[in-house]
Amino acid sequence: MAAGTFASDVERVLISEARIKEIVARLGCEIEDTYKNSGRPLMFVGILKGSAVFMADLMRSVNLPLTVDFMQVSSYGAGTVSGGRINMRLDLKEGDLTGTDILVVEDILDSGNTLSFLLDYLRRRGAASVRLCVLLNKPDRRVADVHVDFEGMRIPDEFVVGYGLDFDEKYRNLPYIGVLRPEAYQK
Ligand code: IMP
Ligand code: MG
Repeated sequence: MAAGTFASDVERVLISEARIKEIVARLGCEIEDTYKNSGRPLMFVGILKGSAVFMADLMRSVNLPLTVDFMQVSSYGAGTVSGGRINMRLDLKEGDLTGTDILVVEDILDSGNTLSFLLDYLRRRGAASVRLCVLLNKPDRRVADVHVDFEGMRIPDEFVVGYGLDFDEKYRNLPYIGVLRPEAYQK
């Protein structure tokens, strides 16, 4: 990629930095209200790599004791559509989830294949509760049924990048969420 073409690959900003801040603050309040009287340990589980930026902000907007861990899965299939088969690449460090409230933190819910696999997997490990927080939700593309407990924003069926979300591992460091120019996919 030539220097100077990076931000100009974005055709349009869908969610500005300021709007993201508002969304994260609102989610933080909702999460606090849900867990403040639970009395159980709370663990945020981020799904790498897309959730890393969102996680960093979200965890600081929740004023409760909590721990953080990450998982990584890969789905087979290339391009901008995820495949149905999921492969676990990084599991939680702590094996015993008994009595713990788990909040899965994910950048985007698209087909739902990744999250339906992960939520099932965590529920089978005996957590007291497993809930889901997604920054973005693309309901039009759902294949697997996934319940969302905390939702940042619904978006139309467009491929977005920035604030952790990538195309071909790039654009994760944009501070806003945008839609790429078609030419950027051909690079
Ligand atoms: P799902 O299994 O189809 O729900 O796929 C979810 C994963 O696909 C997300 O964690 C993202 O990594 C990726 N993904 C889905 N839609 C987008 C998008 O618009 N931009 C960037 N990544 C996306
Ligand atoms: Mg991705």
